[in-house]
Amino acid sequence: MPKMYLTRRESFSASHRLWNPSLTEARNIELFDKCASPNGHGHNYILEVTVAGQVRGETGYVIDLKKLKAIIRAEIIQHVDHKHLNFDVEYLKGIIPTAENLARVFWQVLEPKITEGKLFSIRLHETENNVIEYRGEE
Ligand code: NI
Repeated sequence: MPKMYLTRRESFSASHRLWNPSLTEARNIELFDKCASPNGHGHNYILEVTVAGQVRGETGYVIDLKKLKAIIRAEIIQHVDHKHLNFDVEYLKGIIPTAENLARVFWQVLEPKITEGKLFSIRLHETENNVIEYRGEE
């Protein structure tokens, strides 16, 4: 059967502050500039989750999109939408919530939940122009 790559797109709105607590205020401002402003700022994120797998003869699907949508919403969107990513989300505690770090955590959360096909990539759009892609590689 052919191998294909299926992508589901979801969106969420959240606030964050880029700040490394182990550094001085001056160094944080040097590194993160206005992204370090004390009360944070917001983004309308777009999350694209791609699953790779063979098209199943029984269904003609790689993965049932209803199931993929339900997994992404239950495991990610419900936890992060309208939240402050530095404070409100248990599985984001202790990380600097850059798009890179978010994508890595989202991979770790989703990968074991996807049992039809395999998680292939996470693409997280932080703005219209800035996108990070993670494929589970170290
Ligand atoms: Ni930001």
